Amino acid sequence: MPVIQKDDRVVLQHPKGASAEILYYGATVISWKSPSATGSQPTERLFVSGKAALDGSKPVRGGIPVVFPAFGTPTHPDHAKLPQHGFARNNVWTFTSTVMDNEAGVSVKLSLVPTEAIRAQFDHPFHLEYVVTLAEHQLTTDLHVQHTGLSTTPPFEFQALFHNYIRAPANEVHITPLTGVSYYDKTEPTEQARATPKVENRESVDVQKYTDFVYENAPGKYNITWPSGAIEIRAKNLKDVVIWNPQQETGSKIADMEEGGWYVEHVMTEN
Ligand code: BG6
Repeated sequence: MPVIQKDDRVVLQHPKGASAEILYYGATVISWKSPSATGSQPTERLFVSGKAALDGSKPVRGGIPVVFPAFGTPTHPDHAKLPQHGFARNNVWTFTSTVMDNEAGVSVKLSLVPTEAIRAQFDHPFHLEYVVTLAEHQLTTDLHVQHTGLSTTPPFEFQALFHNYIRAPANEVHITPLTGVSYYDKTEPTEQARATPKVENRESVDVQKYTDFVYENAPGKYNITWPSGAIEIRAKNLKDVVIWNPQQETGSKIADMEEGGWYVEHVMTEN
């Protein structure tokens, strides 16, 4: 049975050896293992902190948390009651169906609808569907946001993002192609500096120091490479990309980040 439903998660198994685990809490992908192109044993592609809570007490520090409807500290007035990164990552989603189950891919759908607690933070008629598809060498995550109100119900503002924690040696990765793309530098100490756009002039971006950059209107296809590996991220309808690595400077202050987690992980998110 390549789709195995457990109490707190669903496990996907591809006939060629790849696998993925999705926690119902936050619809968080907490593991994605895939064999390399040379047919090696499936290896873990995502970072999950050894101190991450997987019991639903707080968002998972690692994997792929889903960020909706606000990224970071909410700025839109309609998002004022939301916690950082919204509510999708800390609510329990429902397993809806197995979408596909064959050699091409194993795919499941999860959904989230407004609860009383969500309505208290975000009072809009929405329906989220999240489809995760596992292929031999690829994981695809699709978020569908539906406004379920009447045509007269006002639209709502939202941001959406996959907070991918990529497992890679952070001090050795290079990310391309972002040359010439404008970005906001969230590591700057003043609000004014954080709000002033900069232009990326490096041929390849690294995360050897604390990095928290929001690139706008980015190319949508990114290569993350390091001496012994590589991963390609392709984004559709997600025009921005965030590169974040706390390094020791801020990583050591994150309660659920394992010691040294910033050396083995590199984080790339998109909104
Ligand atoms: C990143 C943000 O996406 O998430 C950072 O750009 C933030 O500013 C980081 O620190 C982690 O956020 P959280 O809420 O999971 O600790």
